[in-house]
Amino acid sequence: MQSHAWWQRGVIYQVYPRSFQDSNGDGIGDLEGVRRRLDYLVRLGVDAIWLSPIFPSPMADFGYDIADYCGVDPIFGTLEDFDRLIGEAHARGLKLILDFVPNHTSEAHPWFAESRSSRSSPKRDWYIWRDPAPDGGPPNNWISNFGGSAWSFDEASGQYYHHAFLEQQPDLNWRNPELRAAMADVMRFWLERGVDGFRVDVIWHLIKDAQFRDNPPNPAFGPGQPDINRLLQVHSADQDEVLDVIREMRAVVDGYEDRVLIGEIYLPVERLVAYYGPGLSGVHLPFNFQLILAPWSARAIGRLIDEYERALPPGGWPNWVLGNHDQKRIATRVGAAQARVAAMLLLTLRGTLTIYYGDEIGLADVPVPHELAQDPWERNEPGHGRDPARTPMPWDDSPTGGFTSGRPWLPLNDTTTLNVAAQEADPRSMLALHRALLALRRAHPALAIGGYQGDRTEGDVLVFRRRSADEELLVALNFGPSPVEIPHPGAGAETLLSTHLDRSGPEPAGPLRLRGDEGVVFRLGGELQAARA
Ligand code: GLC
Repeated sequence: MQSHAWWQRGVIYQVYPRSFQDSNGDGIGDLEGVRRRLDYLVRLGVDAIWLSPIFPSPMADFGYDIADYCGVDPIFGTLEDFDRLIGEAHARGLKLILDFVPNHTSEAHPWFAESRSSRSSPKRDWYIWRDPAPDGGPPNNWISNFGGSAWSFDEASGQYYHHAFLEQQPDLNWRNPELRAAMADVMRFWLERGVDGFRVDVIWHLIKDAQFRDNPPNPAFGPGQPDINRLLQVHSADQDEVLDVIREMRAVVDGYEDRVLIGEIYLPVERLVAYYGPGLSGVHLPFNFQLILAPWSARAIGRLIDEYERALPPGGWPNWVLGNHDQKRIATRVGAAQARVAAMLLLTLRGTLTIYYGDEIGLADVPVPHELAQDPWERNEPGHGRDPARTPMPWDDSPTGGFTSGRPWLPLNDTTTLNVAAQEADPRSMLALHRALLALRRAHPALAIGGYQGDRTEGDVLVFRRRSADEELLVALNFGPSPVEIPHPGAGAETLLSTHLDRSGPEPAGPLRLRGDEGVVFRLGGELQAARA
C-alpha cells in the first residue's frame, strides 16, 4: 500500500461546515464544531476531510463568494481555530483539504472594489470587463449558472462585468499574469499552514473564449431544466488554455510534499479525463460525478464504470463521488434500500472515493419550503435549490439533533427516526455498514489499490472483481428489489460482507443468492489464494 500516495489509498469525507456541528449556539456550524467531531470521523474510518469554504464572505452563495482568501469568516471561527483543527486532525492521522474558489471572488473582495473603481485601475484587468453590445445590452448571450445573463452593468464605468454565477460573484481574469501570481500566493498561504491539498471550485470555468463568442443553443433543452441549460457552454468554459493554468497550480502544490489537487468538473468523460493534463500535469483527481448523474441501473452503472476505466490516461488515478452539497442526496435519488447498495458500490470501486457528510447515515433531502429558502439558486429558479441536501447533521434524537443549542440555519430531518447516536447503537445500521466497508477497504489492498475487472451485468445484477497480488474479491450488487442468483465463483469462496450485515463465511456449492437490494463482497478461493497458502 505504501507504493501509493495517501490520496490514492484514502477516502475523503466532505464536511459542509455550516451544517456539521455548531459550537456557539448561533445555529451555524463552525470549525470548533468540526474539531469536536474528529473522533467520529476517525471511528468512521475516513482518511481526509474536505471542508467547503470557510473564508470571510458575505455568504451570498454560502462561502463560494470570497471576500478574503487568507482568513476565516467569524461565523466559522478564527485562524487560530483553523490551526487547532488542522493540528488535531493531523494528530489523528486525518488529512485536511480546503476548498479553493479561484474562478470568482465576492463583489466585496477589495480586488473587485479596486477593479470596478475605474477603467484605468491597475486591477481592472483582474476581472472580466467588456463594453456593452451595440444595442447597449450585455456583450454576449452567456447565461449565469443561477439563471439570467452572466453579465452585470456597472453604471459608473460604463462596462459590463462577467459572472458565471451570481452578480455578487464577479469572475476573475485568469489570462492576467498578476492575478495568477496573487492566486499562487493564496495557495502557498494555506499550504504553509499545513493543508494537505485543495478541491478547486469549477476549475473548468477558469478560462473563457478569448473572443467572447456567443454560446450556441442546446438542442436538448426542455421544460424543467434550469436556465443555464438553454445554451451549450462551448465558449464560456472548458477552453484548452485552462490546462496551462492548472499546470501552474499543480506546480505550486508540488512544491510541497504529499499534497493533492482535486478539480470540480462537470463534463462528459472524454473531456473530464483531459484534466489529468498532458503528461499528468493537471489535477491529480478530476472529480468524477458520473454516479450522481447516471440513471440508477446495473446496466447503466456497469457501462459507465467500464467506459471510465477505459478513458483514463496511463497513470491517471480514478475517483468516484456519490454526493455533494450541490446535488440531491443519494438516499433521495435511489431510496433507502438502494442507498446501502450504492455505499457498497462506492466503497468497492477502484480509486479515491468521496463521501458527503450525512450520507453515511442515510440522510435524505429535507424539504425546505420555498419561502424559507436560503440558496440563491432556489430564489432565482424555484425547484433548483440545494438547501435540502445541506441540512444540519443529526447527531442525536433531540429536536435540533445535537447540532446546535440555538436555532438551526436550515431545518433538520426528523431526528427521532434518524440520527447518529441511534445508528451507533444499531449493529445493522447504515453507519455500521459504512464503518464495515471502510474497514474492509483498509484491510484489503485488493479494494484500496487493486485492479478492477468487470465481470457481468445481468438484469439487475452488477458483478465486478477487484484483485491484488495475493487475493481476488468479487463484488455482486443487486440493483433491484427481487432476489437473484449468480453462478458460484468457485471452490473456497467466502462472504466477507453483505449490505445487510448478517452473513459471512464460506459459501456452499450451488448458485450464490442475493436478496433484493443486497450487495455482497466475496473473497474468491482458487489459485491466487492457494498459491499464497
Ligand atoms: C461550485 C460549488 C457550488 C457553488 C458554485 C459557485 O459548483 O460547488 O456550491 O455555488 O461552484 O462557486
